[in-house]
Order: sequence, then structure tokens, then C-alpha cells
Amino acid sequence: MDGNGRWAVQRGLARVDGHRKGADAVRETIAGAIACEVRYLTLYAFSTENWKRPRSEIEVLMSLMVRHVHSEMEALAEQNVRVTFIGERAQLPSEVSEGMEMLEDRTSSNDGLQVIVGLNYSGRSELAWAFRQLLRDAIEGRIDPSDLDESALDQRLMTAGVPDPDLVIRTGGEHRISNFLLWQIAYSELYFTSILWPDFTRQDFQNAIAAYTCRRRRFGGIDA
Ligand code: IPE
Ligand code: MG
Repeated sequence: MDGNGRWAVQRGLARVDGHRKGADAVRETIAGAIACEVRYLTLYAFSTENWKRPRSEIEVLMSLMVRHVHSEMEALAEQNVRVTFIGERAQLPSEVSEGMEMLEDRTSSNDGLQVIVGLNYSGRSELAWAFRQLLRDAIEGRIDPSDLDESALDQRLMTAGVPDPDLVIRTGGEHRISNFLLWQIAYSELYFTSILWPDFTRQDFQNAIAAYTCRRRRFGGIDA
């Protein structure tokens, strides 16, 4: 979800106004995903690198998370959406981690769209975290190093149980991955759009899905 700051600057507003408006695009995207019968939607909200931003911007981002967790909870529950979070929670302000837990609990029995929010997440830190679990399990005798295969790692990722993404959408015009789900996107289709995140609509999401359905995926094989 990239381009909030530029969206605001283009309008003579403060960067944080772009983050405020970005919440509308989250609502739109969730509606688009439900309409397209998408099963899993992962939203990259705050990366481990985003701590480099000015403290004032981080504070607004964190307070927006808390506010929207509370204001959207009932609407999400009613839409049968289940929300879970990936990322390291220990460094987050307690109002944020408490809100996350509350939203996870409130929506845990829903079986519609699963929304996975990356908060203080990065692909490399997730991999380091998973390797730590693996090492601990090996040292304590729960896994034999010769059984350490791809699925052993999959099961220790923060996304355990969630299938690898079919499609990655990046808004805001940059052509990079920026530490998003590094292991899981090995064969994902990539879709880049210059639309700035606050302008991204349900229709834009559906357009990305339509473009995806026209692609031929071979996963390293050849056409049958
Ligand atoms: C993405 O928008 C939102 C977050 C990282 C929270 P940016 O804030 O990166 O917006 P630009 O890239 O500066 O326009
Ligand atoms: Mg950016």
C-alpha cells in the first residue's frame, strides 16, 4: 500500500493526511476482495524499516491503526471477515497490540475472507524468526536436521497455514518488493500500478484481478 505521502504532498496536505485517506482504500480493497471471492488478502501496513520515519508520522500511523481497529471491527465481523496479523508485536505500543488481539479474537470464528495485516513485519525478519524456531526445535530434538525441508520452514513462518499469494499488487509506481513475504512470493504474479494508495478503489482491485486471470502460470514447467 504505497503512495500515501505523495498523494498528500500533491494536494498541499501533510503526509499524515495521506495515511488518513489510505484507510478508505483499505475498505475499498476489502470490498473488492469479497466481491471477487478472494480467500486471503494480505495488507502490508507497516514494515520494520518504517521505524526510520519521523516519530510524529509513526505516532499518527499507530494511532490510526488503533482507531480503525475499533471503528471497523463490527463491520468486518458482519462481513464474515477474519483478521490476523503478522509481524513482531513486542515492539508495538500496547494500545496497538491490544487492539490487534481484540480484532483477532472478535473475528476468529469467521470463515469468509481472511485479511492478514503486516504490522512491524518484514520478510527477512520473519525468516530470521522462523530460523530461530527451527534451530530451537533441532537443539531440543523436535526435528532432525536431515528432515529440514521447505515445508518445515513453511510451518514456522508467521503465515503458517496460509497459502502462498497468487498475486502481489504494489501501488504508488515503484517497482520493488520492499521486504514483503520474501519466501512466499517465489512464484507469485506481480502487478505494479502508478495509482497512489489513497486513490486505489474497489474497481482498481478488480482490474488487477482481471489482469491476473489473463496470465499463464507455469511454475517453472512448460505449457501442457
Ligand atoms: C505507504 O505510503 C504507507 C506506509 C508505509 C505506512 P508512503 O508513506 O510510503 O507514501 P510515499 O511513498 O511517501 O508516497
Ligand atoms: Mg512509500
